[in-house]
Amino acid sequence: MSKKEERLQKVIAQSGVTSRRKAELLIEEGKVKVNDKVVTTLGTKVTSDDKIEVEGVPLEKEQPVYFLFYKPRGVISSVKDDKNRKVVLDYFLEVQERIFPIGRLDYDTSGLILLTNDGEFANLLMHPKHQIEKTYVAKTKGIPTRDDIKLLKKGIKVDGDLLKAEHVKVLSSDNKKNMAIVQIILHQGKNRQVRRMFEAINYPVDKLKREQYGFLTLHGLNPGESRELTPHEVKQLRAEATKIVK
Ligand code: URA
Repeated sequence: MSKKEERLQKVIAQSGVTSRRKAELLIEEGKVKVNDKVVTTLGTKVTSDDKIEVEGVPLEKEQPVYFLFYKPRGVISSVKDDKNRKVVLDYFLEVQERIFPIGRLDYDTSGLILLTNDGEFANLLMHPKHQIEKTYVAKTKGIPTRDDIKLLKKGIKVDGDLLKAEHVKVLSSDNKKNMAIVQIILHQGKNRQVRRMFEAINYPVDKLKREQYGFLTLHGLNPGESRELTPHEVKQLRAEATKIVK
């Protein structure tokens, strides 16, 4: 029986080196070799018998790993930082696999973020068509009114993006301190989306936390702690993301 053929960029992404989009760029830039020959054609088919090198480093297939992390505030959602600030990977020093965060949370936002070395899985969850529901809790300056909340649910244009919430609920408010705690659920994942939405209606966000990612919660974790996802959770996430097609 012949070996299974797969697209080169997919194999690179699955090995955990980088995302599929970055793998495509590396191929186009002539940084990938198959059996000692530079390959620049996207979609070139390879099998497990082929010797693949990315930027001169042989590709080794890592077992996929998946983590759920409670990111504290003041940490960058990235693998490294030019300015030497704390990054999420600083909390995974014992993990051998080349993991990276799936999407991002702002430096000042705390909460649930996933990390993996599975580029295909990360691409699936980050794709705008497959955005899983995310639940945030924001502390706002000022107390949003019913009309403000309607506006957030209807959608507001900010810098050319239509930013829209699925659900918004004021959980509590303090008239004296002129602040509110608001739950907001998004099906989108635009950059700084929650902060931009509240800024647009003149209630700047003081504090922000992502409490849920689909069915996943921070239950049992403190800031800075993580746990591995179970194989069933990974399957469920994949199924949920595949089901959503916008
Ligand atoms: N929305 C934001 O404004 N910031 C985040 O980190 C996530 C969602």
